[in-house]
Amino acid sequence: MTTAQAVKKIEKDFDINAIFAPHVLRHTKGDIDPVIIQKIIDEKAKPFVKWVGGKRQLLKQFRELGLYPPEGFDASKNTYYEPFVGGGAVFFDLLPKTAVLSDMNNDLVVTYNVIKNNVEELIKSLKKHKHEKEYFLKVRARKVSELSDVEIASRFIFLNRTCFNGMYRVNSKGEFNVPFGDNKNPLICDEENLRKVSLALKNVSIKTEDYKNVLKKAKKGDFVYFDPPYFPVSKTASFTAYTTGSFLEKEQIELRDTFYELHKRGCFVMLSNSDTPFIKKIYSELKDKKIKINIVQAGRSINSKGTGRGKITEVLVTNY
Ligand SMILES: C[S@@+](CC[C@H](N)C(=O)[O-])C[C@H]1O[C@@H](n2cnc3c(N)ncnc32)[C@H](O)[C@@H]1O
Repeated sequence: MTTAQAVKKIEKDFDINAIFAPHVLRHTKGDIDPVIIQKIIDEKAKPFVKWVGGKRQLLKQFRELGLYPPEGFDASKNTYYEPFVGGGAVFFDLLPKTAVLSDMNNDLVVTYNVIKNNVEELIKSLKKHKHEKEYFLKVRARKVSELSDVEIASRFIFLNRTCFNGMYRVNSKGEFNVPFGDNKNPLICDEENLRKVSLALKNVSIKTEDYKNVLKKAKKGDFVYFDPPYFPVSKTASFTAYTTGSFLEKEQIELRDTFYELHKRGCFVMLSNSDTPFIKKIYSELKDKKIKINIVQAGRSINSKGTGRGKITEVLVTNY
């Protein structure tokens, strides 16, 4: 069996993506032993925060549609960009050799960097937290500007694990305001996974910056995945409070223009958004045969009548 055939076999038999499969093969030293392969897959780093809009459940569907990862993307030569990284579900699925991650949420970005550079200090700090409402409120009220980076990361992970539904929402002053959650036994310090994440981030750059900065850096052949705050499905369904800035019509059009610039440059571009007439309209305005608006089933369901559960759809726009 050639290396290419072995990679394809691993991809298919173990249901993993085409970027991670060669990495698995390298670590088995060419020997396709299913037990060893499964062990490597099970030991992979996972997202360390729960993030609204996390893409984990959707990736299998993207792969089955032949849209992910893009066939022409050569991860051994080119760079993967994820400028709305959030929990990083796609980054952790791909584990590419070179990646540039960014987000406007500074506490989140500080946390990524502390895990990358100072994971043992962070683990020590996380072990000191208590799972009590009073304590949660005290930690939530702390001023980030007065904390060290390790303290910011420790507070961020603690709040994410113990707040209501792992949500992230800030008020107009940028203060985290999600209430205490009802999870009886949250895993505040998943030290094994944090160490794996630290290793996975070794060659990765993570910055607090606006997504538009990707335009300054991405080159032909690079792969850019955009997972922005979604355009609201209805006026009441709006959930765009990850940061203090809003992300509505004007911002969605600017993002569409960035998508098109990267397309013209020869990057592979993939973008998720809600399946709404506005989003479909702005991408169909591009009138370029290569740009496709694919409809996918969203992993979550809506429950408008209390009992009826319906699947909702979202779009995956690609230029390949
Ligand atoms: C839908 S979430 C991404 C979810 C992520 N794909 C995951 O799997 O967890 C959108 C992210 O965009 C970030 N964001 C909002 N406005 C931004 C901007 N202008 N530039 C960069 N990031 C931004 C938010 O902080 C949030 O983390």
